[in-house]
Amino acid sequence: MTWFAIGLAVLASGLAIALFWQLREFRKLKRWASQPRLTDPPEGDGAWGEVFNFLHRHRRATLKRRRELARLMVRSRRGAQALPYGVAVLDADYRLDWCNDAARDHLGLDPERDRKQAIVNVVRAPEFVEYLRAADFSEPVRLGAPGSERTLSLQIVSFGVEEHLLLSQDVTGAARVEAMRRDFVANVSHELRTPLTVLAGFLETIQDLKLDASRVRDYVGMMAPQAERMKRLIDDLLTLSSLEHAPPPPVAERIALRPLLRRVRSEAEGLSGGKHRITLESAGEYDLLGAESEISSAFVNLVSNAVRYTPAGGEIRLRWNSTDAGAEFSVEDTGIGIDPEHLPRLTERFYRVDRGRSRETGGSGLGLSIVKHALARHQATLAIDSTPGKGSRFTARFPAARLSPVRQKVEG
Ligand SMILES: Nc1ncnc2c1ncn2[C@@H]1O[C@H](COP(=O)(O)OP(=O)(O)OP(=O)(O)O)[C@@H](O)[C@H]1O
Ligand SMILES: [Mg+2]
Repeated sequence: MTWFAIGLAVLASGLAIALFWQLREFRKLKRWASQPRLTDPPEGDGAWGEVFNFLHRHRRATLKRRRELARLMVRSRRGAQALPYGVAVLDADYRLDWCNDAARDHLGLDPERDRKQAIVNVVRAPEFVEYLRAADFSEPVRLGAPGSERTLSLQIVSFGVEEHLLLSQDVTGAARVEAMRRDFVANVSHELRTPLTVLAGFLETIQDLKLDASRVRDYVGMMAPQAERMKRLIDDLLTLSSLEHAPPPPVAERIALRPLLRRVRSEAEGLSGGKHRITLESAGEYDLLGAESEISSAFVNLVSNAVRYTPAGGEIRLRWNSTDAGAEFSVEDTGIGIDPEHLPRLTERFYRVDRGRSRETGGSGLGLSIVKHALARHQATLAIDSTPGKGSRFTARFPAARLSPVRQKVEG
């Protein structure tokens, strides 16, 4: 009996110890499980040890996966930041989740403030609201950037399960080029239509009326200047186009400046027909390096303007001055002058201060844009000073790199 009691007592105390150990291990697990991210799982022996080891491995693998995911997210956000487009991630209801800096700049989005805001409440341009409503995202939509002169192109791209990207791109440059092209075609058509209408009118008159030979000759005589005007316009357009597309002017080809300046002066005298006093001064010992035809065309355009916009009796001074720091060619007249408000636009194609007056003298407004292009190709600039009613001075400035000492004639 006594042995039996002793056995029971030993068993009971063994069980109590085992239970106590189990409870201790269980408490360890419970303590760790309340904050599993902060610490490693506890250490242990036996079956508990195996459980703890398993948890340990599992925790390591989870942490690793999480770190990889975080790295991946940082990388993809960095990638989206680096894109030359604005990118905004929208949910199924077109609410903002995230956007990169370009989208912030283009659309005025703030990823914190506007998070979970419906995108139409932030980008309120009517064109965009209509684009979202129509839900046809096959083409982008164009709109002006809020509070600026910029033009933006926006497009929705869907991905995943009903998620969307809003891509934005600054297309101001392309929009400007398109507008310029439209204006250019309209201007050319307009300039050609006027002389063509006059020519067609004369032709109809000659055809319909029975005119004697001398009247026909009169009419043909009146038609010739119109045809000449159309030809000049087309010549100028071709000159401009070749200036835009030709290879850069040679840097080693010398233009003999003195004979060229004399030719320019003779042209001016021819155009003036003796109505102006024209002088030429030249100083310095340098010639220009470049394309002679382009420089000649630029200088002739400047002097022909001086002749055309200076009333009879006026004076026109041509000056060439070269030093080792650079050179200047200037054309100064005592003509009608130009109001300061026109100066910044004077070299634009087809820009004329007084369309009527310029057209009377056969001008189409391409002369100064040819000058500007030809000079720019020689790294030269054009400066314009003018006082209305007093006169103007157009100065072409060449850098030293475009100069070469005048070649002395070898005597003998
Ligand atoms: N020396 C000048 N004095 C006064 N106005 C000038 C002078 N030169 C140019 N302008 C003004 O600048 C405008 C543009 O000149 P530009 O040479 O480009 O065109 P245009 O002379 O009208 O025509 P084109 O040269 O094509 O025959 C002229 O229409 C004229 O109003
Ligand atoms: Mg001109």
